[in-house]
Amino acid sequence: MVSALLMVFTAVVALAAGHGAAFDPNPLQDFCVADSTSKVDHPGGTASRRCGFTALPVQIPGLNTLGGSHARVDVAPGAVFPAALPPAGVGDGLDGAVYFGFITSYPDNKLFAKVLRRGDVFAVPEGLVHFLYNNGTAPAALYATLSSQNPGLVLLGDALFGSGLADDLLAKTFLTDRETVDKIGLKFRS
Ligand SMILES: *[C@@H]1O[C@H](CO)[C@@H](O)[C@H](O)[C@H]1NC(C)=O
Repeated sequence: MVSALLMVFTAVVALAAGHGAAFDPNPLQDFCVADSTSKVDHPGGTASRRCGFTALPVQIPGLNTLGGSHARVDVAPGAVFPAALPPAGVGDGLDGAVYFGFITSYPDNKLFAKVLRRGDVFAVPEGLVHFLYNNGTAPAALYATLSSQNPGLVLLGDALFGSGLADDLLAKTFLTDRETVDKIGLKFRS
């Protein structure tokens, strides 16, 4: 089942490969081991108390300039790693179980989702909205291998409701009224 799903994921990755707006260039040298004492360009982690997850980069000096990065994501019981936009990536279930899914692009908006357990490996196609939800009772952790040295993270709720976008624009986008948008927005701005 897992391998069948992986094949589907791989096919989707192949289809999505040409659509990345940003990409890491090919390296100009064989390798360039990072200077771990350097103060320049240290990527930061992301922790959300509101959502209950942490995503911390795993520093591997030899990976510097090779166009990839690793992160460890911890999701507390009941917590969610909310709908986010990634570069292409592969995740590796380390501990616990977590409900993972991604949604294909418009107009299909098809949800692929399943419960991942320790040892499961999954792929996130580039640029597709995805999520992790720990709806179990034990903490869950996983490693992610990302196809960019500086992958960044776009959390849709924060980007849309925490950025100061005008309420009437958001209301039209979500086919709702300004009061509803205001109510949601308050939580992201506090
Ligand atoms: C978590 O949610 C998924 C999807 O609804 C479900 O299949 C799974 O059984 C749930 N896990 C727990 C521990 O309830």
